[in-house]
Amino acid sequence: MPPFYPTHDFGPAMKGMVIGGLGILHVFLAQFAIGGGMLLYYFQWLAERGREPDARRFLDGFFRVLVLVSFVLGAVTGVAMWLTTIQVGPRTIGLMVDEFHWLWAVEWTFFGVELVSGYLFYRYAARLPDRTRRILLAIYALAAWFSLFWINGILSWQLTPGRWLEGGGLWAGFFNPSFWPSLLFRTVVATTIAALAATVVINTMAELDRERRRRLITRAAHLMAPMIAMPLLGLWFFAVIPADSRAWLLGGSVPMTMFVAIAAGASLLVGGYAALGLLRQKLYVNGATATLLLALAFGATGAGEFVREGARKPFTVREVLYSNSIGRDEVAALRARGSVTDDPYPLAGADAALPPELALGAKVFRLQCSVCHTASGANGLAELTRTWTPTQLRMNVAMLQRTKGFMPPFAGPAAEVEALARWIESLHGAAPASDRPAASPAELAAIAAWLDEAGTEPAPFEVRP
Ligand code: HEC
Repeated sequence: MPPFYPTHDFGPAMKGMVIGGLGILHVFLAQFAIGGGMLLYYFQWLAERGREPDARRFLDGFFRVLVLVSFVLGAVTGVAMWLTTIQVGPRTIGLMVDEFHWLWAVEWTFFGVELVSGYLFYRYAARLPDRTRRILLAIYALAAWFSLFWINGILSWQLTPGRWLEGGGLWAGFFNPSFWPSLLFRTVVATTIAALAATVVINTMAELDRERRRRLITRAAHLMAPMIAMPLLGLWFFAVIPADSRAWLLGGSVPMTMFVAIAAGASLLVGGYAALGLLRQKLYVNGATATLLLALAFGATGAGEFVREGARKPFTVREVLYSNSIGRDEVAALRARGSVTDDPYPLAGADAALPPELALGAKVFRLQCSVCHTASGANGLAELTRTWTPTQLRMNVAMLQRTKGFMPPFAGPAAEVEALARWIESLHGAAPASDRPAASPAELAAIAAWLDEAGTEPAPFEVRP
């Protein structure tokens, strides 16, 4: 039987959305800190070689403060990610820790080096000789990139565990099929974000005349050149993800396809502007345009993360663990035992006062559905089921993975389907369950037959949307 953990209810915000929102901010900051390190290194090199008279002014200016702020905020939002994920998907985190224990330690070590070297540069750069400055920046940039390297293996394993599923072990899981395309893709995003942020900062350097600022901007734009590889990296990524996820992202699901289009479109705009305007024609980019491009890059990052998270449904670890923290191999046992029979945690808030049958339904919702649905807020069950007849509701819940292929199979007996259905009906303002007769044995038998018909496995690949 799966273990239970206390969960947290974020009210009208869906749990998955809370993690997603925080994750996007975290990824953006962390990627900026990585690209920022590379950009600082490049400018230090330009300064040392005497290739760019204003490089040093840029290095000792506001940009390095921005890098410091972003890795501090990156660290804070990183901790916040742990805090929210242990409330929303504790078993996912548990599995990640079990499988990759030492790799987390390695990741953390690199992050520590990033922090120390970054801070040393920020604090002492003005007093240090050139060579030491460059070494410090090289250490910072490498450590920052390697912290991405390590975390990327663990995150991409969630989507494409590859040979790890057949007992390939830790390294098969780490160097999984989407490891390289996502690492390279994120690296390109990191340098692009840094170049755009640098352009904004250079625009604020009022002490330089326009021509000198333009030269600095053209230098910074060199870090956007790798964007040329983005379409190829994107195709590579799509080629290695499972066929069902691919079909879902490329047309199968309208919202998902829209997010793919937003990510691709925004990247294309930024890339096109960089290639033509900055690198070829060496245009001057003013602060407003640079801010707009940066906002586009933020939008693309957000849409991209959304796509990556969404592509895994119904799993958080592909083929092994469902988004609602129930193991694929646990469903059959939970059908017999009851999914919340052993749940020791009482209902909170208004739910604490529910009569027993509705309370059972509320607990089933909390365990099996609340990671992707709210009662009546975002992706709310009340709205989704408003027009359904009682029979339709029970059948669609019992055959959940057939209702929508990106939902996991229902993991409880007929009595839990019935209780959940009644709880959903109570959201519509139906008569209180206590005023209605309990489900008859024949009604429960019909639900049990639907459960059996749908089976305990996820929707087969072909029909996952
Ligand atoms: C992995 C995430 C996930 C889980 C877990 C999940 N759902 Fe869903 N469900 C979705 C998504 C996404 C949709 C699509 C919403 C839309 O079409 O706007 C959906 C749609 C639905 C719909 C509407 C289907 C239709 O055909 O219109 C119902 C009803 C529903 N879910 C019930 C449930 C119930 C009950 C549970 C728990 C037993 C559950 N879901 C668990 C993600 C999930």
